[in-house]
Amino acid sequence: MSDRTTAIILAGGTGERMGGDTPKQFMLLSGEPVISYSIRAFDSSPLVADLTIVCHPGHIEKMEGVVSGLGLSKRCRIVPGGKTRQGSSFKGIKECPKGTEYVLIHDAARPFVNEKIIENVLRAAKEIGAAMPVIDMEDTVIKAGTGEVKEMPDRRQLKRVQTPQGFRKDLILRAHEQAITKGKRSFTDDCSLVIYSGGKVALAEGSELNIKLTKGSDLILAGSILSSSHFRTTPKLRVLKRP
Ligand code: CTP
Ligand code: MG
Repeated sequence: MSDRTTAIILAGGTGERMGGDTPKQFMLLSGEPVISYSIRAFDSSPLVADLTIVCHPGHIEKMEGVVSGLGLSKRCRIVPGGKTRQGSSFKGIKECPKGTEYVLIHDAARPFVNEKIIENVLRAAKEIGAAMPVIDMEDTVIKAGTGEVKEMPDRRQLKRVQTPQGFRKDLILRAHEQAITKGKRSFTDDCSLVIYSGGKVALAEGSELNIKLTKGSDLILAGSILSSSHFRTTPKLRVLKRP
């Protein structure tokens, strides 16, 4: 089928920086596991055909429980992840159903992805093969040495990169294969792999609310996003409205 898009949700990490006993993708936000929010966003997107969740090998059963409790309308497979994010992403891409033409690769740690971001990224990815959602850098950023400022880049040229990142599947698969051949195994996002392999990446509009849960204080922000008017709550479904 042409234009078939698979959403790959990466949940193979252990959330070291967040701390605690539960990896952040399973922590509860308003009573629901963090990953449930992004699973639902992709399940309800008309642009996505099916889902692949890349899960830490030690948590497959737990993930199966989360997925079966959601009553999804689309096929959702769960595959074991790798030791690094790059490794997990590569596994997810290789395990996509036959016929997948585009992939959206998303961090389970970003629960507030919404339809608008999915649409922006996929449209841009279909134009040149690879796209990332970005937002402006509003703080002044410095490059620091030990106790001194080394450089002050012009913040108007800086962007903050989010997920989901969108790709033509054959293009991102090739970029991963090339990186591995060259011994590069620690890229922290997928667009970096495309850039490393000499390809181009389009910019799409992300959202300030599409935060990544990395450390404890991010849970406070997540709580206020959830309780804000950007969330409409119905008994079974919580839908993120456009910001
Ligand atoms: N991830 C993954 N496989 C890994 C490492 C990370 O699928 N081996 C996923 C995480 O589950 C997360 C996303 O990649 O959804 C972004 O990674 P990050 O925020 O770094 O999460 P963790 O690696 O879990 O956290 P930390 O680096 O603090 O341990
Ligand atoms: Mg990590």
